[in-house]
Amino acid sequence: MIWFSEGERIGLRALRADDVPRWTQWFNDPAVTADLNKGLYPNTEASQAEFFERIHASRHDVLLGIAALRIPAGELVGVIGLHHIDWVHRRADISIVIGEASSHGQGFGTEAIRLITAHAFDTLNLHKVTAGMWATNLGSRRAFEKAGFVLEATIRQSYWHRDRYVDEWRLGLLAEEWRG
Ligand SMILES: CC(C)(COP(=O)(O)OP(=O)(O)OC[C@H]1O[C@@H](n2cnc3c(N)ncnc32)[C@H](O)[C@@H]1OP(=O)(O)O)[C@@H](O)C(=O)NCCC(=O)NCCS
Repeated sequence: MIWFSEGERIGLRALRADDVPRWTQWFNDPAVTADLNKGLYPNTEASQAEFFERIHASRHDVLLGIAALRIPAGELVGVIGLHHIDWVHRRADISIVIGEASSHGQGFGTEAIRLITAHAFDTLNLHKVTAGMWATNLGSRRAFEKAGFVLEATIRQSYWHRDRYVDEWRLGLLAEEWRG
């Protein structure tokens, strides 16, 4: 297994075409999409494969698999990405999904956020990384805060969530803060 970067229990690796079926199903699982702008329409392997091809052809996105370092090494746990990479202002926005609800809350998200952030600052020489989440997504906010992100803004009533509109939290981290 070739690792893009390695943490303690998970690493980031290139996504492969044979990851698509597993990855597709995550976005059909209400336990995973509860606080995401997903799950509105069924996700298909064809649309996921098309997304995979499009993102890999883009120089404004980096998308990597989050995978177990040990037994079974390389097994896909989630996907994390840098998007809207702006090479002038040197910014990017992070997306993340830990795919199986049973794998949530075990520290994988925090570890993956730290790894992609290191890639953004140390390898891509970006200046700032950001993330946005529904204001119901306490686990996501906490995972980003544990990785050093701070709340920068609350955007009012951005998403319809079951029976009400919820705010969006915008978090950010500067390279100088990351380096300390
Ligand atoms: C959000 C997500 C990436 C977080 O990753 P994770 O591996 O589950 O999170 P971690 O275990 O690294 O850390 C989460 C932290 O938030 C806490 N947390 C989790 N759920 C929480 C909740 N509902 N309320 C309060 N805190 C919560 C955990 O206890 C942990 O903090 P701690 O270590 O101080 O105890 C993951 O749950 C996920 O992919 N969810 C579905 C998709 C999604 O929401 N993606 C994010 C879009 S921005």
